[in-house]
Amino acid sequence: MKRNISLIVLVTVGGGVLAAPGLVRAQKQQPKHALDHWEDPYHCVGCHQERFTDWSAAQMSCGFTGDFFQTQYFQYAVVDSQRDPKMAGLAADCLGCHSPSAYLSGLVPPPPSRALDNYWDQAWPWLGSYQTLGQARQALDNAAVNPPYRERWRNSRPVTKQDADRGVFCDFCHSIKSIENRQPFNHNYVPDTGPGRNTKRADLEFPWSPYHETQVSELHESAGLCGICHNEKNPLGVWVKATHIEWTETRYAKRDLVCQWCHMPPREGKPAKMGRERPWNHAHWFGGGFTGFVEGAAKVTLAVDETAVRAGSSISFEVSVGDIATGHWFPTGATEERDVWLHVAVFDADGNELQHIPVPPDPNDPNDRYFITSNIMEAFPSHSSYGGALARDALPEGDRIYQDIFLDSAGKATFGQWYAVQIVGNRLKPDETRVERYTWPIRADMAGQDVYVRASLWYRRMADSHAEHLGIDRRLHLLVSEDEKRIHVISN
Ligand code: HEC
Ligand code: HEC
Ligand code: HEC
Ligand code: HEC
Ligand code: HEC
Repeated sequence: MKRNISLIVLVTVGGGVLAAPGLVRAQKQQPKHALDHWEDPYHCVGCHQERFTDWSAAQMSCGFTGDFFQTQYFQYAVVDSQRDPKMAGLAADCLGCHSPSAYLSGLVPPPPSRALDNYWDQAWPWLGSYQTLGQARQALDNAAVNPPYRERWRNSRPVTKQDADRGVFCDFCHSIKSIENRQPFNHNYVPDTGPGRNTKRADLEFPWSPYHETQVSELHESAGLCGICHNEKNPLGVWVKATHIEWTETRYAKRDLVCQWCHMPPREGKPAKMGRERPWNHAHWFGGGFTGFVEGAAKVTLAVDETAVRAGSSISFEVSVGDIATGHWFPTGATEERDVWLHVAVFDADGNELQHIPVPPDPNDPNDRYFITSNIMEAFPSHSSYGGALARDALPEGDRIYQDIFLDSAGKATFGQWYAVQIVGNRLKPDETRVERYTWPIRADMAGQDVYVRASLWYRRMADSHAEHLGIDRRLHLLVSEDEKRIHVISN
């Protein structure tokens, strides 16, 4: 698209001479922007302090500096862009969404970031020893930590970020003028910026700022703005991210409840220190899979009729997963990484797991094996021809898992989304209730006890095996929802 436009311009302006292929290419590679065509986020802090604090703690500010991005980008994406001609543009492409000002300034690849985000243990040493968000919350509540844990739970500390490290930052979003085509995807933004201070676009009525020009922008009130980066087609033509496309099929889209409604909740207040009180402006929270936001994103219901069962016998029961509270599928986004899984087990009164109840295989689903947790060494960090395999799920085996498996050209599971040629998945959709059936063979040694059958739904950002391979901290397992039932086991 871009090349066509530049060709037309060159031909009409310069005629035959400029149409020489070498020159066209040189023209195309010439970056149109420089890093100082945008202001650093720190320049906004004086007047928009609250937004700055929100943004600093949100994943948006870690688009480039996040330890996961840094390791995957430099260890795999940049390397693959050099060794595989099909992936030649990859090192730049990632930046188009993760550090758009570096991308548009031709800073490819940028120097690795010296201060990485997401170092949980370093940032919050007292949280490292807790397995679940519930346990951590308990500890935080006990310690009466202020501000509330939800604020502190997030991954970053406010810092002054410059150059590529700015990630997805204030001035970048607020200088986007339009989308290149009708369908927003693959960073097809049209920025309106250049030397000197640019105009800031958003949704306020009659704003006035002593520092910068303002302009009302409908784009900023639309989900399309988010789709620019939250829809992605990889170099092989496969949709590897489709959060915005998923949203268009939900009832939220029909009621015009856009991404901002949940991720930048409207509220009253002053959008700028010297501005006026307004009934309607937006938190810059961008809560996602790092926050308490996943708690309650779906509801688990355990349907066990019996209150007493006989040791040595067996019973069948159902677990349903429904009330999906997301405005898209769950999980969404980087679905080659994100996992949601359902663990069903029997516990004693002290919470010790006595017996795991695996989900039975579904013979009617040819892909069922991908949806039952397994530690087979079959997942590759990039294309399977480039190295050894990792444990696929790195979880107790036999649980139902709602996930996407990305398959490369050799039919192998890969975490390198750019090599996906096919995706098999069973993620949860809003308005849907999934029912799983289990059989519990009641162990003879439980006779005489009161036990608890518990179904727990978990979320995590990436497989432990992948984190370990990249040399970064393992991500916490966050509890989404659980249900349990007390049952007396009668002796035989
Ligand atoms: C991912 C893009 C994005 C980033 C990054 C971002 N904003 Fe916004 N901002 C928006 C959107 C979208 C709106 C309008 C929301 C709506 O109308 O639904 C908005 C609204 C605003 C407004 C108008 C008042 C309001 O809340 O509606 C101000 C002021 C503002 N942002 C400042 C900032 C500052 C300062 C930063 C950095 C600390 C920042 N923004 C970072 C997308 C962004
Ligand atoms: C000297 C103070 C000051 C600084 C510095 C400042 N702003 Fe503002 N900004 C304001 C004021 C005042 C308003 C209007 C608020 C109102 O009318 O309620 C505003 C409004 C906005 C709006 C809303 C525009 C609209 O049409 O809805 C955006 C977006 C925005 N600023 C972004 C930024 C960004 C990004 C930066 C940093 C690069 C920044 N501002 C720096 C004072 C400032
Ligand atoms: C009805 C509220 C709602 C709407 C509308 C909504 N979301 Fe979400 N979103 C959520 C909830 C709740 C979560 C946390 C659960 C999860 O991780 O999926 C979430 C998670 C996410 C995540 C993290 C994904 C993950 O699993 O790691 C991203 C990215 C995201 N949303 C982007 C978007 C975008 C882009 C849109 C608009 C196209 C949007 N959301 C619309 C509620 C909403
Ligand atoms: C310029 C590209 C870009 C735009 C525009 C953009 N995002 Fe993002 N967003 C990203 C990137 C990149 C990340 C992930 C950063 C990371 O984890 O490395 C992200 C992360 C998020 C997350 C956090 C998900 C998590 O990992 O937990 C949410 C929520 C989100 N975006 C919502 C939105 C919404 C809502 C909009 C529109 C108002 C929007 N984004 C616009 C690029 C963008
Ligand atoms: C079209 C935009 C886009 C492109 C291109 C893109 N990403 Fe992303 N990436 C995102 C968004 C949006 C998210 C956040 C989704 C979510 O939270 O699930 C994300 C999430 C990630 C994450 C997870 C971060 C975390 O902390 O969990 C990694 C790692 C990542 N991308 C690496 C890459 C690499 C490497 C490339 C290039 C091969 C790339 N991305 C290309 C938009 C993009």
